[in-house]
Amino acid sequence: MASSIFRPLLNCRRHLPGLLNNAVNLNISLNQKQSLIRYSSTYKAALLHEYGQNLILEDMTRNILKSNEVRVAVHSCGVNASDRLMVENLYDHPVKRPFVPGFEVCGEVLEVGSDVKTVVTGTRVIGLNKVALGGFAEECVLDENDVFMVDHAVCFDAGAALADCYSTALLALNRRAQIKEGDTVLITAAAGGLGLAAVDLASSVYRAKVIGVCGTEGKADLVRQKGAWAALKYNEKHVLQKVKEVTDGKGVDVVFDAVGGDVFNTALDCVAHEGKVVVAGFASRVVPHIETSRLLPKAISIMGLSLTRYHESDFAVYRQAVEDVIELHEMKLINPHICARFKLDETDKAFDFIKERRSMGKVVLEMD
Ligand SMILES: NC(=O)c1ccc[n+]([C@@H]2O[C@H](COP(=O)([O-])OP(=O)(O)OC[C@H]3O[C@@H](n4cnc5c(N)ncnc54)[C@H](OP(=O)(O)O)[C@@H]3O)[C@@H](O)[C@H]2O)c1
Repeated sequence: MASSIFRPLLNCRRHLPGLLNNAVNLNISLNQKQSLIRYSSTYKAALLHEYGQNLILEDMTRNILKSNEVRVAVHSCGVNASDRLMVENLYDHPVKRPFVPGFEVCGEVLEVGSDVKTVVTGTRVIGLNKVALGGFAEECVLDENDVFMVDHAVCFDAGAALADCYSTALLALNRRAQIKEGDTVLITAAAGGLGLAAVDLASSVYRAKVIGVCGTEGKADLVRQKGAWAALKYNEKHVLQKVKEVTDGKGVDVVFDAVGGDVFNTALDCVAHEGKVVVAGFASRVVPHIETSRLLPKAISIMGLSLTRYHESDFAVYRQAVEDVIELHEMKLINPHICARFKLDETDKAFDFIKERRSMGKVVLEMD
């Protein structure tokens, strides 16, 4: 039986003002009131019924928590490139319909299962799980292991924009590429959610000399503001020239690529002797194929990573990465850039915004 500590009643009023008032009027016990709220009230969620169609806002009823679960009142949820791919059935694997997308939330704990030890009702948390989903909603249920406590000074939008991209970038730069202070780093899709996180971490935490590559001058401005030494638009000749100039002809120590396709090929030509290339994503949807003979002359190491796979294969490392980025954010060393905010009934607009490559950094849904 779940040891349900429930969010203060004040917070539940937005779900069930009528019933709550009736409960008060009937002068029933607190436990009865809590049960009434938990089982009878509904919350709004954006559901995908048919791939490629708009999400539909619906009233959902709550399920009883399992002993290891945490119910979170979602205040903000990150909207990511992969959310859109899941909705359009272009993701690595089809997600079973109907489903509520969204895997990166920030909010407050409403209720905890009987075995939950690390958070209590009212704790401000980030929730991250690319398999469980359910974040495009006023509430979601997560395993305790997928919930991370954050300081009350962390605003909900920043909390919903931090964990996925920054943890991926941290694992890529630190664990995989073993970046060092003063290294030169070429980052592609540098104004995207993941790229800008990599720019921020590499410049602000590792004091690396970052060259960011992106689609427009406006985006390049933002990349420079985030700390990049240089930022420029995609153009093979210009990129090679700039890398030569910044590195005194040596090439970069690290490439962080989230685009793939031709951009990856250009980036590979920019690597220094014994340089490293981290494959982090394929925003272009083109997976590049290379001749391994290209790696020999400059003794290049090429490596990849998937945050989701770390969750499955090395949970301790995964969890530590997320906790580290939360701490770095709380120390004000890193800060996700949020370019646009949408409401829960505007998910189609949020997806179009990302699809049209208008986003810079992160997009969030706000529930309040
Ligand atoms: N490895 C992991 O665990 C992990 C984690 C998060 C994300 N990812 C992956 O990393 C990639 C980027 O994710 P994100 O969150 O940064 O996405 P995002 O915020 O949508 O940014 C992607 C950026 O890629 C650039 N881009 C270049 N060529 C493009 C093309 N042909 N079509 C669309 N965009 C293009 C766009 O910027 P410009 O207009 O400036 O070119 C776009 O803003 C995605 O493939 C995502 O699935 C991987």
